Amino acid sequence: MNPTIDLLRNHRSIRKYKEVALSEEHIEAIITSAQMASTSSNVQAYSIVGVTDPVLKRELAQLAGNQAYIEQCGLFLVFCADLHKLKEATEQHGQSFHHNTESFIVGTVDATLAAQNAAVAAESLGYGICYIGGIRNKPQEVCEVLSFPELVYPVFGMCVGVPDQEPSYRPRLPMQAVYHANRYHADKVAEGVRQYDETMYKYYEERTNGKTLTTWSKGISEKYAKPGRAHILPFLEARGFRFK
Ligand SMILES: Cc1cc2nc3c(=O)[nH]c(=O)nc-3n(C[C@H](O)[C@H](O)[C@H](O)COP(=O)(O)O)c2cc1C
Repeated sequence: MNPTIDLLRNHRSIRKYKEVALSEEHIEAIITSAQMASTSSNVQAYSIVGVTDPVLKRELAQLAGNQAYIEQCGLFLVFCADLHKLKEATEQHGQSFHHNTESFIVGTVDATLAAQNAAVAAESLGYGICYIGGIRNKPQEVCEVLSFPELVYPVFGMCVGVPDQEPSYRPRLPMQAVYHANRYHADKVAEGVRQYDETMYKYYEERTNGKTLTTWSKGISEKYAKPGRAHILPFLEARGFRFK
């Protein structure tokens, strides 16, 4: 349709990289693209830490559940929600800093929008990417390794690097289960999930040579049978975030 839409539709997560560093010019292009993402009231409540130090990458790979591609990739970006800089700006005017659940959402959304711009910029330069939510397995340790001040937390990481694999595309839910014209049509969602289960059954079967015979809804039912990362709320409160 056009090169931007082609690029977006060509996305797949890359989990094997050539150990090649990114040029400073490419890092700057990726980060400045991230910075031009829309941001709530221009508050820019996020920070990005770019990790290239092999020792730090190894530590982060372990903290994220031994995800080896964090070590291999040329650049590991950590996207953080950052209220610290807003507190700093507020206090420069002699005001005390008030924040709440809304501020937490603003920081998390800002970090996420910047990240997706970075992902698209990196892919447009021929790199592969993979988001890493695994860094929230041990978030306090990640904060210590990367010297985060209070009111900063890692939302997720992102591997960026030269791909050393060409995985197949992961199919998505049918559009009717995602996009609703004018009103939410819950009846279409149920049918969309049924259709998607058929698609994903075939996808898993082909991708694993018949070893994995499951569906998307089965995976979701297992994932949500128990609460995920229950340590997150106490962790965020200890970092100074407020939920009220
Ligand atoms: C916030 C977020 C966290 C993720 N965390 C991980 C992760 O820790 N490890 C991993 O291998 N993939 C991770 N992924 C990648 C997803 O599994 C992947 O995007 C999804 O399965 C769709 O596949 P695709 O990106 O290849 O289209 C994450 C994606 C997002 C958006």
